[in-house]
Amino acid sequence: MSALPRPSLRALALAALAALAAGCDPPGAEVAPAPACALSFQRRGVEVARLSCADLEAKVAAQRVRVHDPYEDRELVFDGLPLAALLDAVYGPEWRAEGELNFTCRDEYRPSVAVGRFLEHQAFLALRRADAPAFSIDKPESGALRAVDLTPAYVVWENLEDAEIRSQGDYGWPYQVVAIDLGDFSERFPRMTPPADAAADVMRGFQAFRVHCMPCHAINGDGGQLGPELNFPVSVTEYFAEPWLHRWIDDPASVRRSPRMPRPALPEGERAAIIDDITAYLRAMARRKQAP
Ligand code: HEC
Repeated sequence: MSALPRPSLRALALAALAALAAGCDPPGAEVAPAPACALSFQRRGVEVARLSCADLEAKVAAQRVRVHDPYEDRELVFDGLPLAALLDAVYGPEWRAEGELNFTCRDEYRPSVAVGRFLEHQAFLALRRADAPAFSIDKPESGALRAVDLTPAYVVWENLEDAEIRSQGDYGWPYQVVAIDLGDFSERFPRMTPPADAAADVMRGFQAFRVHCMPCHAINGDGGQLGPELNFPVSVTEYFAEPWLHRWIDDPASVRRSPRMPRPALPEGERAAIIDDITAYLRAMARRKQAP
């Protein structure tokens, strides 16, 4: 049930007349319809299949999956397709020898997850909630709960038995998934990859950036678009003084009120060292600007 007050019929009719008179669509027409469920499956950026949710369910039977949802921080139940079996059906078993699954989400979030994780642990492509009518979750953001629509698909992991996955929180749980691209990370995102002979701290920082930052941020145009580009045309290391950059990454809310960027889930005790590595990576990329 919607919490919005219901406009009276008379008000609706008057608004419709006014809209017609003004030559635009009647009220309600501007409400975007729920996006049709369709997923694009790609290999190195080239689409190999485009499947509706019905097509997907015809390939692999949905299962009821109970997980500890890392955003809501409680158990939720979904109907989902075992992802490894689904990828077998779409790509054939060759996908298992690839490097990464690169996800694209409707909100321009772009996480990459190593193929090995899908072989060693159990992931599902959830298509609906089994315990609620709406396919959404209530996600805590800046101290408040925001209802987040998950359509068309949400990647969830068995983490009630699997303590390793449980300990990694929301890493690898993209929602609003519209495309899955199979391929090697540096081939898919060449402009954010440092040179092979970069210093050790730069390479460590790159690995941490891929996990914790790249889903939302691009470097030279490669990566997520949910947050700002961090390298081109001006690197964030050029306009943020180093101590403030470090402090922002550690805890954005200590710098700006109600930031949209969450406090990164870095292991406590290693936070400062990992942030130093990430800033070393960002400084190295500032010397390797490439137009997106
Ligand atoms: C869930 C998405 C998300 C993740 C993950 C994320 N950020 Fe952000 N980041 C944002 C958004 C959105 C902004 C824009 C400012 C705001 O509203 O918070 C931002 C802003 C920034 C800024 C300031 C840029 C500017 O010009 O003001 C820096 C620097 C930054 N992020 C670095 C990082 C680093 C480094 C990581 C990884 C440790 C990271 N972010 C992870 C979403 C994210």
